[in-house]
Amino acid sequence: MAHEIALADIGVYGLGTMGSALALNFAGKGFSVAVTNREAGWIDDFLNEAPEFVDKMSGYAELADFVQAIKAPRTILFMIPSGKPMDAMIETIKPLLSEGDTIIDGGNADFNETRRRSAELDGTGLHFVGMGVSGGEDGARHGPSMMVGGTAHSWTQLKPMAEAIAAKFEGEPCVDHLGPDGAGHFVKTVHNGIEYADMQMISEIYGLLRDQGGQEPAEIGQMFERWATGPLSSYLIEISGAALQSVDSKTGQPMVDVILDKAGQKGTGRWTLVEALKLGQSASTIEAAVGARGWSSEKDMRVAADPLLEKGAIPAELPTEKDMENAMMAARILGHAQGFRILSSASEEFDWALDMARIAEIWRAGCIIRSSLLDEIAAAFRAELPFDHLILAPAISELLAVSISGLRRVVAVAALTGQPVPALSAALAWHDTMARGRGTANMIQAQRDFFGAHGFERMDVEGKHYGDWNAVQTIVCPVWPEA
Ligand code: 6PG
Repeated sequence: MAHEIALADIGVYGLGTMGSALALNFAGKGFSVAVTNREAGWIDDFLNEAPEFVDKMSGYAELADFVQAIKAPRTILFMIPSGKPMDAMIETIKPLLSEGDTIIDGGNADFNETRRRSAELDGTGLHFVGMGVSGGEDGARHGPSMMVGGTAHSWTQLKPMAEAIAAKFEGEPCVDHLGPDGAGHFVKTVHNGIEYADMQMISEIYGLLRDQGGQEPAEIGQMFERWATGPLSSYLIEISGAALQSVDSKTGQPMVDVILDKAGQKGTGRWTLVEALKLGQSASTIEAAVGARGWSSEKDMRVAADPLLEKGAIPAELPTEKDMENAMMAARILGHAQGFRILSSASEEFDWALDMARIAEIWRAGCIIRSSLLDEIAAAFRAELPFDHLILAPAISELLAVSISGLRRVVAVAALTGQPVPALSAALAWHDTMARGRGTANMIQAQRDFFGAHGFERMDVEGKHYGDWNAVQTIVCPVWPEA
């Protein structure tokens, strides 16, 4: 079946959408690629569809032949479903490999599993790389953003090929070795968490214009198209503009109007949250986005609840386009800031020494969240960052200062009119919490100490203290009625 080539620079296992696109990208950049797939029937079909790379790609139905066709030390990229299939493949291929070979998991994997797999291969002479690949099919084919975690040895092997196929921002490749074991997959997971938040915020602006503004999809789409050329310039705003102006060829209806309002999710947004909470961090914008996808799936319940739940809506004037643009900008900054906060906390916890500026830089092109804001975020991380908090970087806090009132107006109008904006309002609540030197947690501490003698810190004297809860009162406990 194979058109034989000299030993391949890289092996690609898994010819699904992403695997095929990456194999073609490597070949297009002049690397020779050995390919294989669990269903061997796909291999010839794939090769036949790419006759221009006949000298660069070879296919193998047998795993042993595939391995033998790759130059040692081997670099083998697996583009297969994460979880059990990856573990099974490692077990199967291990005996066929030699010292110095590298196995790369290029899927969206749980970084905890990546760490475990790296540890299991440690000492065997084999290397494991967890590589986050972002940009969808088009990105994989023409230039993805890639987040690499693994050993220095593996990176030396992979670097020239990864840099060649990566997206470029002003000539700089959007790929880097970010740290050991699970670092790459963790950064990719948080990328996806930020992606979820940004997508949700865009959907909320769309919802406000659709439900309160009575606007048609194309009109809203044109607004996003305008935004895509300004400070909000980004892939997600751009595709939202195009999606809203697309028409269903079956019905002639706007495409978005024929799509059921139930969102799917494969789990990376949820992973971001779980890890954030384990690290003692809050990621309220990402939680809002994950939660909103969950609630969207309860379609039948929402349809039943619609006439039953009194909205109590209060008419309010729609915010201006400028206010909405500013609202999106402020919320985007806050969503990204929460994401980067999770990254710095994980970096500390796992001793990864993640370079935040570099992460922002490799997200400037190729990936789903690419935006002009990320260039400003990268610059902010390169400069001094007070308290390690993005929102305190002078350039970023200036951007927030001019956009936050827009977010306030949008959230206020949404609240009055009964329009759900969970991610936008989570962003605002976080901003307002961080912007107050004096919060309300003293009241939480009072309650904890009152009912549980948990103690608290005083403002005037160091150490642990307990309250004098001596006000005259009657505590009314609920009493269960007798059966
Ligand atoms: C990317 C994307 C991609 C992800 C899809 C779908 O960076 O290219 O994040 O990895 O799989 O966006 O994710 P959900 O199905 O969870 O929405």
